[in-house]
Amino acid sequence: MRQMDAIVDQLGRPIRDLRISVTDRCNFRCTYCMPKEIFGDDYLFLAKDQLLSFEELERLARIFAKLGVKKLRLTGGEPLMRRNLPELIRKLHDIEGIEDIGLTTNAVLLGQYAQPLYDAGLRRLNISLDALDPELFGRINGRGITPDLVLKNIKKAKDIGFAIKVNMVVQKGVNESEILPMAAYFKDLGITLRYIEFMDVGNDNGWSFDKVVTKKEIYDMLSSVYDMEPAEEEYYGEVAKRYRYLDSDVGAQVGFITSVSESFCSTCTRSRLSSEGRLYTCLFASDGFDIRELIRSGKTDEELFEAIADVWRGRKDRYSDERSEQTVKNRKKINMNYIGG
Ligand code: GTP
Ligand code: 5AD
Ligand code: SF4
Ligand code: SF4
Repeated sequence: MRQMDAIVDQLGRPIRDLRISVTDRCNFRCTYCMPKEIFGDDYLFLAKDQLLSFEELERLARIFAKLGVKKLRLTGGEPLMRRNLPELIRKLHDIEGIEDIGLTTNAVLLGQYAQPLYDAGLRRLNISLDALDPELFGRINGRGITPDLVLKNIKKAKDIGFAIKVNMVVQKGVNESEILPMAAYFKDLGITLRYIEFMDVGNDNGWSFDKVVTKKEIYDMLSSVYDMEPAEEEYYGEVAKRYRYLDSDVGAQVGFITSVSESFCSTCTRSRLSSEGRLYTCLFASDGFDIRELIRSGKTDEELFEAIADVWRGRKDRYSDERSEQTVKNRKKINMNYIGG
């Protein structure tokens, strides 16, 4: 296959990351992602043959690596709901050009999978946790799961040797009271907590600008208690802005993901693959490009490479830069469990 010079989109952005959703299923029903009123017992999830197989994913990841992708992230739904996930990690780990693989999970199944994942070569976990208060967390996750299970699995994964970050989606009037307790807890553990501004992903989460707690609001709350200084970017176009606590013995940091108040589209090098093999060039896209159809109709690697390169070259997305009352209301978007965040 031909190795090309950087393939860039309409705004000059190269393709560097591929986020792969391995399943649309989840064992949580977070109110802002898969509200249980909509994702009920009769909800029709994808069938096994609709999902890309591990062989198809490995083949695609190799092609994406040739296109310039260096970093893979596995998401869901809840990625650990996909059977034998460590086997996929093992396949992806061996791909030339892939420098980094991460997994975004709610950690419920980590007790069982942390060691096999580590043995398969995974080193990075981003774990979602929105509150330490059991009643509140149980309500947000829609399943009554208490934080102790998540916290126990975080500690287990840390002991195994994973680099861990914790993601907290902050919603006004829901979990602002958890901002400081969460900071204190993870600062002590030396784990980076990242506050995520609530976003208008999908069509079912009742989002409005009023429900966003901005980075500035959170930063002001933290800085009344802690002294912090900005930390260097970990990689080009990092989604989080991170700060170092000046008094932390363990080098603890805290971060903010500011899609709403300070968008970061100009450096967005991320592509996304849904579990049924559609390629999306933005988290807020309405339509994806059907790669599964191409694979299953027998296209060669070269043909797949060219098709994906064409999609990327045509990319113009910058949704968060353009977000307005109008886009929020009028744009039909893909669901978060389907695209994996
Ligand atoms: P790292 O490699 O550890 O930096 O991972 P990450 O932050 O890119 O991935 P993660 O799955 O932990 O995502 C954290 C939050 O950032 C989630 O809410 C994602 O939806 C959001 N996010 C990630 N990439 C983008 C993006 O390109 N645009 C927007 N608007 N949000 C994003
Ligand atoms: N806004 C911000 N973050 C969200 N996530 C899911 N839905 C939203 C939303 N509407 C987060 C999850 C997880 C990550 C993949 O995306 O909590 O940490
Ligand atoms: Fe919650 Fe993540 Fe599951 Fe969505 S995919 S319901 S954010 S745990
Ligand atoms: Fe990238 Fe779209 Fe997010 Fe902007 S809104 S950073 S283009 S995924």
